[in-house]
This record gives sequence, structure tokens and C-alpha cells, in this order.
Amino acid sequence: MKYIAPSVAFFAAAVSVRAQQPLYAQCGGIGWSGGTTCVSGAGCTKLNDYYSQCLPGAAAPSSSPTTPSPSTTGSSPAPTGSSVLPFVGGVNMAGYDFSSATDGSFKDTSVDPPVNQFSHFAQQGVNIFRIPFAWQLMTPTVGGPISSTFFQRYDRTVQAALNSNPNAYVILDVHNYARWNGAIISQGGPTNAQYANLWSQVAAKYASNSRIIFGIMNEPHDVPNISAWADSVQAAVNAIRAAGANSQVILLPGSSWASAQAFPTEAGPYLLKVTDPAGGTSKLIFDVHKYLDSDNSGTHADCSTNNVQVFQTLVNYLKSNGNRQALLSETGGGNTSSCFTALREELAFVKSNFPTLVGFTVWSAGAFDTTYILTVTPNPDGSDQPLWTQAVRPNLP
Ligand SMILES: *[C@@H]1O[C@H](CO)[C@@H](O)[C@H](O)[C@H]1NC(C)=O
Ligand SMILES: *[C@@H]1O[C@H](CO)[C@@H](O)[C@H](O)[C@H]1NC(C)=O
Repeated sequence: MKYIAPSVAFFAAAVSVRAQQPLYAQCGGIGWSGGTTCVSGAGCTKLNDYYSQCLPGAAAPSSSPTTPSPSTTGSSPAPTGSSVLPFVGGVNMAGYDFSSATDGSFKDTSVDPPVNQFSHFAQQGVNIFRIPFAWQLMTPTVGGPISSTFFQRYDRTVQAALNSNPNAYVILDVHNYARWNGAIISQGGPTNAQYANLWSQVAAKYASNSRIIFGIMNEPHDVPNISAWADSVQAAVNAIRAAGANSQVILLPGSSWASAQAFPTEAGPYLLKVTDPAGGTSKLIFDVHKYLDSDNSGTHADCSTNNVQVFQTLVNYLKSNGNRQALLSETGGGNTSSCFTALREELAFVKSNFPTLVGFTVWSAGAFDTTYILTVTPNPDGSDQPLWTQAVRPNLP
């Protein structure tokens, strides 16, 4: 988690019941009491029973069909093209990353994410879980062998996630900020070979499971040489394929805490050049994060943007650079009406931009308790957090 941006784009939401809904705003769905008409140029489009959204050019008025005129017949078709993944929506299951610091140091206060949460969420349609772990837990010495004690714990959790839904994907996320104990991979810290060795060992364990996704690093930040970081990414990709894991998606993270906003101008140009020994680029998906609070850090209860402009810019960039894809593996908000609205709008935008945006995992459930500021951990009585029911559930697959 946590991306701290120097500047913030505020989004002014129009929420009057009578007003026409702005582009990308909600305009209908179960429990919705706001406006149901959209501004000129947008149509209210049903995405699922819980959520209708004002989308560009979409949806003629449902009453009185009019004769199509040349000016309204050319609306852009739904995105096509092959996506290795279906639309994926789900949640982070934190615990093995507890006390992973942003400088890559680690003190073991890890907790197993409660396994009953996997079926709880899967029953609602969740088809992806991201399970962070500290590098130091997986290989206690840098470049050394996997700890069989930790791997048993981790794999028990991974299997519970896979078994919760026959279509569920699991992201294995090394939560180390491109670092080991304060030093950056290949830039003063571990060598690329030591980093790649982690992934060759982990990939060998899961080489035959096509529902595993390799999240090769959480939130690189303050990386002096992004070109060199892309070389580290390439080393991990090569190691995963060399271990026989050729069918799976690999998530490639950029700089500035895997910022979705910075991607087109910082890491994007370098990560576009990473190649896949398994062929093509459809299994190399960019890993992006974005929060919605005033300093974009994911540490405040209130939300001040729905990030639609950021994601529209990212979508444009990905489409114009070989129709590549990105997955939003961290986003979230507090237990506040501003976040219910903003996160719902953000995730609806992600969903409506599949396959360019292939899906999301919200931060966070798992071993966080229900007092954590961004919690979506279910309550002890099994009920869900309001943020989950208001913003996430409507946008699940
Ligand atoms: C950054 O890393 C690249 C390797 O990808 C290297 O060629 C280049 O010299 C480095 N730049 C600096 C300023 O060190
Ligand atoms: C969320 O807010 C509601 C209403 O203020 C409150 O009843 C509930 O306990 C809060 N939940 C959490 C997890 O803080």
C-alpha cells in the first residue's frame, strides 16, 4: 500500500437527486435513489443489477425509440481482442506482509489470513485474491532456498483461495518495495540473479497451475534508475518461464509505488519493452495501484477523487501502445460516504474498460481487523463492511 503523490486532482461529484448524472456516474441499480438520467452525450447503461452507469454515447432512451440518425449510429463498439484473463474482481488478503516496511526491511509479525474469508467472498462472485508475503519469510537468506516451514503456511492459504471458487485466480505478491533490508535490487541491494532465484523457486512450485498469477514486486518506489528496474523485471520474468511456468500471467510493476498515474510517463516506456520467453505480450500485464484520498496515500478515511481521469489516461496509453492491459491490484477507501461513492465510480470505470483494465483487488481484508482504516474484512457476525457492499460488490464480475 501507500502511494504518496505531491499533487492531487480533485473530482467534484454532482449528487443532486434531480440533476443529470455526469459521465461515469451511477444512474441506477438496486438501492440507488439518485438521478437516473445522464448528461448529454452519455447513456445510462446497466452493468449489473446493482449498478448502472453513465457511459459515453451509450444507451438510447428506453422509452420512445427514435429513428437512428447518422450522428448517433457511430458509437464505438465494445472493446474486443483476446484477454488471457476474464474480468477479475476481488480483494487483497493481507497477513504474511505484516511488518514488511517500505524500505524492504522486515520484522516477523505475520498472521495467516483467515481461510473462511475466501469462501465468504467467493460466494459473492469474487474471482481473484492477492496474497502478499514478505520476501524474508519465503527465503530467509537473500538468494537462498525457500523456507519449507513458511511455504507450508503460505501454500495452505493459496490452496484455500484456489479451492474457494473453481474459477478463482490467486496473485502471489512479494511485498518488498523492490528492496531487501533497505537496499534496492540491482541498485545497491540484491543482484538480479538473487531476485530471479526467488521467482524461479516459487514458480517451480506452481508451474502447473494456470490460475496462479505472479505478482513479482509490490510498489517499487524511489528507484533511481527505472531502466535498470525494467532489467530486474525482465530477470524475474525469464526465471518464471525457465521454471516451466509458461501459461500464467505475470504482473509487471512500475515506479512511484506502482502508480497508475505515473505509469505512462515513468515506467511505462521501459516496461513496454519487457519480453516474454513464452511468446507475445498477452501474459505480461502491468500492475498498478491507486488510492482515492487527499494525498493519494491510502491512509485516510475520506475520499476526494474517483480517479476516472487517471484511469482514462492510462487506458488511452495502453491502447495506443499495443493494446496492453493493466490490473489494479491495490485501491480502497474508508468507511465513509465519500469513499462509497468514489470507489464505486472508480471500480465501475475499471469494469467498463475491460479488457484494457482487466480487473481489481481491493486493499484489504485478510488478517486486518475491522478497525483498520481501509478494512473490508467481514465483521465477526459475517456481515460485510458498508464499503464492500456499496462500492465493491456492485462491480464484481
Ligand atoms: C541505468 O540502467 C541502465 C541499464 O538498464 C544503464 O545502461 C544506465 O547506464 C543506467 N543509468 C545510470 C544513470 O546509471
Ligand atoms: C462504519 O460506519 C458505520 C456508520 O457510521 C458504523 O456503524 C460501523 O461500525 C462502521 N464500521 C467500521 C468497521 O468502522
